[in-house]
Amino acid sequence: MKFKAVLFSSLMALGFLCCEHLFSQNARIKIDTDRIIGEVNPNIYGNFVEHLGRCVYGGIYDPGSPLSDDKGFRKDVMEAARELNVSIVRYPGGNFVSNYHWLDGVGPQEERVTRMELAWNVLETNQFGTNEFVEWSRRMGAEPFFTVNMGTGTIEEARRWVEYTNVSEGPYYAELRRKHGYPEPHNIKYWALGNEMDGSWQMGALNAEDYAKKARETAKLMRWTDPGIKIVAAGSSSYGGDSDPDHWNSTVLRELRNYADYIALHTYVGNRSNDYLTFVATPHVMEHRTKIVRGMVDREMNHARRGSRDPIYIAWTEWNVWYRTMGGEGGSGPRALEEHYNFEDALVVAGFLNGFVRNADIIKMANMAQLVNVIAPIFTSEDDLFRQTIYFPLELFANNALGTSLDVFVDCEEFTLSGTIASEAGRNSFPYLDVSATYNDGEVVIAVINRHQENHINTDIISQTGNFTGSFTVHEITGPDIKAVNDFGNEVVRTIEKPLIRARGDKITYSFPPLSVTMLKGRISK
Ligand code: AHR
Repeated sequence: MKFKAVLFSSLMALGFLCCEHLFSQNARIKIDTDRIIGEVNPNIYGNFVEHLGRCVYGGIYDPGSPLSDDKGFRKDVMEAARELNVSIVRYPGGNFVSNYHWLDGVGPQEERVTRMELAWNVLETNQFGTNEFVEWSRRMGAEPFFTVNMGTGTIEEARRWVEYTNVSEGPYYAELRRKHGYPEPHNIKYWALGNEMDGSWQMGALNAEDYAKKARETAKLMRWTDPGIKIVAAGSSSYGGDSDPDHWNSTVLRELRNYADYIALHTYVGNRSNDYLTFVATPHVMEHRTKIVRGMVDREMNHARRGSRDPIYIAWTEWNVWYRTMGGEGGSGPRALEEHYNFEDALVVAGFLNGFVRNADIIKMANMAQLVNVIAPIFTSEDDLFRQTIYFPLELFANNALGTSLDVFVDCEEFTLSGTIASEAGRNSFPYLDVSATYNDGEVVIAVINRHQENHINTDIISQTGNFTGSFTVHEITGPDIKAVNDFGNEVVRTIEKPLIRARGDKITYSFPPLSVTMLKGRISK
């Protein structure tokens, strides 16, 4: 009897210890610098400027403002955008481009005509156009990326735009650019074939077959005008709509497999039902769509004649949180789409960035929509600006998460979801810690979102290919609560610098606070 009691209490003790051990076991992140996904293309930190609301006029361009430079470009906006390390900027739309004729926006400004702009229901003065955008981009240090009008525009109009911007001298449109004061070609490298051409809201929307044929012929003529350009075909923007995105994407890839360098996808997410966990899981939908399109690309590459050219990559040319000003009063007019972002939106934006890094072998471009005022990280008034909550993850990633993307092992508690987002993400469970890592010449950058609303998550970060050495910097995006918003003179959601971690050996233990984005940066010695 005594023996039994001792055995029982020993087992209890053992059981208790096991449970306690299980309960308090640290989460694990394993970093292996040999497990490479691909090179992070800096173009995943791109942005988008559309003639929409106050993005161009009153955003990047405000002639006459004391805050603007000699060309009318807002200097404070440029500075804030430079800090975002914006690599590439898509222009001029968006829906706008489907009724845009580039010739309206070149030449002496006083001779430019005003047009009805039907996408956003305003008048377009055309005071800002091709040459202004190129000059602004160059001053910013970003690559300009043009989208041609495949709605009301023609193949010839698209080809002539390439001639205007990229042909040095000789033919009419190259000479026209020279006459307009630009003796050297602009050498625009990236060209997209239309915007969201599968959407019923698009002027001149097409079905998959008609778009694919028109896009293929446009690509041919544009490339014959300048063989050095990169072509971005319009993938589907209609997930959840009435058209079939898989049919659209596979048709476009088949028809353009010998011509396109990228297929463009778009996604916007929101939290209409105020369901935090579902909302923070939405970037996984983007990753799932990436996976599906990746399979289609593989299939088409099998039949393509591309010589030594790269395979077709994925470009998420529009992505962001957008739901408060979609449709209704805030959805059009001179102050359209002025979304005011909160802290949970910043966590979602960080989730997208982790997702782009995790798919760095196939996602080679992404353009947050948009840069200023319109669903944007930068928000201006006539005499000031502030950085929205979503500015901070972009800034952290674009300045740090570069180099080689690593395939990271993560073991931590998960949350489960059912419903649309789970099925669109192709999974039911999601780790509370959302992680990506990059490696560059001995330096490792680990980005961790703790999506748990209450719990710190104690985590062992383990290096599998050498020891962590020296000091790790720690940056954290934090805010008072998930609904906190920034405003003029009051940026309560922001990045803070935390004490350095002294690293020695193959393990760092760190406690990630609830509702935070943390970026750790330091060295691994092999
Ligand atoms: O970015 C706002 C709009 O969203 C773009 O004009 C359009 O392409 C998309 O539907």
